[in-house]
Amino acid sequence: LWKSTLYLSLLGVSYFGYSLYRETNPAKTAPQATTFSNGSPRKTIVILGSGWGAISLLKSLDTTQYNVVVVSPRNYFLFTPLLPSTPVGTVELKSIVEPVKSITMRSSGEVSYYEADCTDINTKKKTVRIQPVARGKDVPEVPEMNLNYDYLVIGVGSQPTTFNIPGVYEHSSFLKEIGDAQEIRLKMMNSIEEAALLSPDDPERARLLSFVIVGGGPTGVEFAAELKDYVDQDLAKWMPELSKEIKVTLVEGMPHILSMFDKNLIDYAEKLFKKEQINLKLKTHVQAVTPTKVLGKNADSNKIEEISYGVLVWATGNAPRDVVKDLMNKLPEQNSRRGLLINDKLQLLGAESSVFAIGDCTFFPGLFPTAQVAHQEGKYLSTVFNKLHKIDQLEWRVQQQKTQNASTEIINKLQGNIKKLNDLIVPFKYHHMGSLAYVGKDKAIADIPIGGSNITSAGSFTFLFWKSAYLAMFESFRNRLLVALDWTKVFITGRDSSI
Ligand code: FAD
Ligand code: NAI
Repeated sequence: LWKSTLYLSLLGVSYFGYSLYRETNPAKTAPQATTFSNGSPRKTIVILGSGWGAISLLKSLDTTQYNVVVVSPRNYFLFTPLLPSTPVGTVELKSIVEPVKSITMRSSGEVSYYEADCTDINTKKKTVRIQPVARGKDVPEVPEMNLNYDYLVIGVGSQPTTFNIPGVYEHSSFLKEIGDAQEIRLKMMNSIEEAALLSPDDPERARLLSFVIVGGGPTGVEFAAELKDYVDQDLAKWMPELSKEIKVTLVEGMPHILSMFDKNLIDYAEKLFKKEQINLKLKTHVQAVTPTKVLGKNADSNKIEEISYGVLVWATGNAPRDVVKDLMNKLPEQNSRRGLLINDKLQLLGAESSVFAIGDCTFFPGLFPTAQVAHQEGKYLSTVFNKLHKIDQLEWRVQQQKTQNASTEIINKLQGNIKKLNDLIVPFKYHHMGSLAYVGKDKAIADIPIGGSNITSAGSFTFLFWKSAYLAMFESFRNRLLVALDWTKVFITGRDSSI
């Protein structure tokens, strides 16, 4: 038995070592010609974005079949499920990002990457306008440029919504990008250090130590949980008196938090928050934000309540990005304000033959703006492009045969094959794997569909499941290793209390 265990362990370690080596030492991809050896043109796919949808497509696409161009202002993929853990240092930011270069260098064919924002999409001319990101303060802006495409994949995600509530944009921090997490960290530390200089009876001290989160969806809940953990488990060691004064408040407009979860799990999370003294303000719809106060209308009393804050985190969901709004305005078929309308093959309504849209920038009934959906859509598109490549090759052959005056029988046969391949492009089908959320004090909730019903689970064991599920979701061994090390470090030494 010990021999088999030893062999298995050696096999595991070698596989792990090999995967890590492959990730950190990418092979050089050979430059690709614009035509294939048979003279047919290599079509260009432009992929907008480097998030869940775009990167999932890129990782599974056969990039030797196309001239692939990726455009994104973010030169890395961000593993968003662990972003709420980063402002308090449970997980380091570097551990949850994967550079685009490390992905493109490992793909089978050549992939070009532009660190740029797409500022305009012209589906008639089949072009996108891009604005390269200006790096550094005094660096002159690189002029905009146009890129042509045969196929376009829009995976630009969404931006945080403010519902145009006055003061939100100016005074709160979002939790969507790396920069947001860094900003929250800085504001938290500044608030704590400033408060430490004031006497305990100074009302300004109480304000500075009031951390308010608006939005009781999973982003707000997970961050509130992480924040309270940090205060109780780490700050309590270094600043015992001050940490007791810190108040964490979660404001939600609806009667309950985490509306997408099963009722039992909602109850569990709300009871845990109460026990851990996270101040839950339900049925409180925030209507305005000042530099020091949140003004929320309580649905029961119909009165406006003022909540003072030192740090305010705004997590009320998604809104379309400007480039998406512009595109929606240009196409009459796009008449939803929630996102790009697509058909069941993820083709953009109004530009079906050449444009696809995936992830949070889209709206399709039954598909929610989650990483799971975007990831599966990206994977699905790679299979579509595989078939489209074969169709394009056959269409090219049809044209060749026509110019050579080939018999109608040959042409009909080729066209029959094209039809068969087209029929093989079946609609996208989403497989929901379940929902998970961290609720604090090493506890998580899980709502998992099994067979026809849902299994719900909550507590410390579910937290272990949560951890292993997220480790498994990482496609990069480097990220898996770094996150596991971060968790181990926090377990042994606690979280860091400095910037
Ligand atoms: P994104 O992943 O947001 O990627 C969009 C990409 O487009 C980015 O690379 C961006 O830089 C780029 N981009 C933006 N503008 C432009 C432009 N003009 N031109 C070109 N590129 C552009 N979902 C889950 O299923 N489970 C979770 O546990 C979970 N946790 C989350 C935690 C947090 C804190 C947040 C904010 C979200 C979480 N989500 C989770 C939701 C999930 O992150 C999104 O649904 C997912 O990121 C959507 O993928 P996407 O590819 O559409 O967009
Ligand atoms: P969300 O849309 O899920 O939740 C936003 C919450 O804010 C809602 O409960 C809403 O009632 C509340 N709200 C809106 N305006 C308000 C106001 N003015 N005052 C008070 N409350 C207000 O947004 P979230 O959490 O950012 O998630 C976005 C997407 O990402 C969702 O699809 C979510 O499922 C997904 N996600 C999933 C996670 C997970 O599975 N663990 C973690 C984080 C996000």
